Amino acid sequence: MIIAVDGTVASGKSSAARLLAQELGFAYINTGLMYRSVAAWARRQGIATGDQATLAARVGELRIDLRDLPDGQHVLVNGEDVTDEALAPDIGADVSNVADNPAVRDVLVREQRRLGRAAGNAVLDGRDIGSVVFPDAEVKFFVTASEEERARRRLADDRARKPDVTFEEVLAAVRARDARDRQRPVGALMRMPDAIEIDTTHNRGPQETVAQMRAVLEQKFGALDRLRQLARAHSPSLKPQECG
Ligand code: DC
Repeated sequence: MIIAVDGTVASGKSSAARLLAQELGFAYINTGLMYRSVAAWARRQGIATGDQATLAARVGELRIDLRDLPDGQHVLVNGEDVTDEALAPDIGADVSNVADNPAVRDVLVREQRRLGRAAGNAVLDGRDIGSVVFPDAEVKFFVTASEEERARRRLADDRARKPDVTFEEVLAAVRARDARDRQRPVGALMRMPDAIEIDTTHNRGPQETVAQMRAVLEQKFGALDRLRQLARAHSPSLKPQECG
C-alpha cells in the first residue's frame, strides 16, 4: 500500500510523513532528500547544477540509498553519506535547479517507484508523488499551511544561519519557492483531485498533523488495524509463502 504525501515547502509534511510511517509500520521515503542528495553530489563533483546537459549526462552514475537512523533519514550517494550537505540551508537554489532537470527527475522517479514497490507498504513525501510517481496510490494527502505560518517556521531556522534575516525576506523566499515548485515543467507541485488536503496552519507539531491524517485513514478504512491488515496482505515479503 502506498500513501502519497505531497505539499508545500515548510508545511510540516516530512515530519508528519515519517511519524505516520512509523505508526503504521510502513517504510518512509523522503523524496525531497533524494533531490537534495543530487545537488550535494553535483557540488562535490564540481558540476554546476544549472548546467542541464552535464547533469543529464552524468546522472546515470548515481546510486542513491536511503537509511533510517535515530536522528532521521540519511541519504547515501554511491555509498557516501551526503545528508549534512543535502540539508545545508544554502543548497536551496542548487536543489531547485536539480529538480527542474527532466533527466534527473526521470532517474529519481524510477528509483522512487523501485523503492516503494520493494517496500510494499510505504509513505512517500514530495511534490509529485500522487501525480507522477504513484498516481494509483491508495491514499493521497496534500499538506499545506498559510504562507505566513510557513515563513514563521522557516524564520527560526534561517536566523541561526543569518541573524539579521527579516520575516519579510523569508516570506518572499517561501512565495518564490512555491512559485518555482508549482511552475516546474515536469513534476510540478499540484493538488490532485483525489488528494485529501491537510491544513497544518494551527498545528503545534507533527503529532497534530498525524492525528489529522489518522482521522482520514480511519474514516476510509474503518480502523487503523484494518489498514494494517490490508497492508500485510499487500506485503511483497508474504508473496513467496503465498506461492507455496
Ligand atoms: O521537500 P524538500 O524541501 O526537501 O524538497 C527539496 C526540493 O526538491 C524542492 O525544491 C522541491 C524538490 N522536490 C521535487 O521537485 N519533487 C519531489 N518529489 C520532492 C522534492
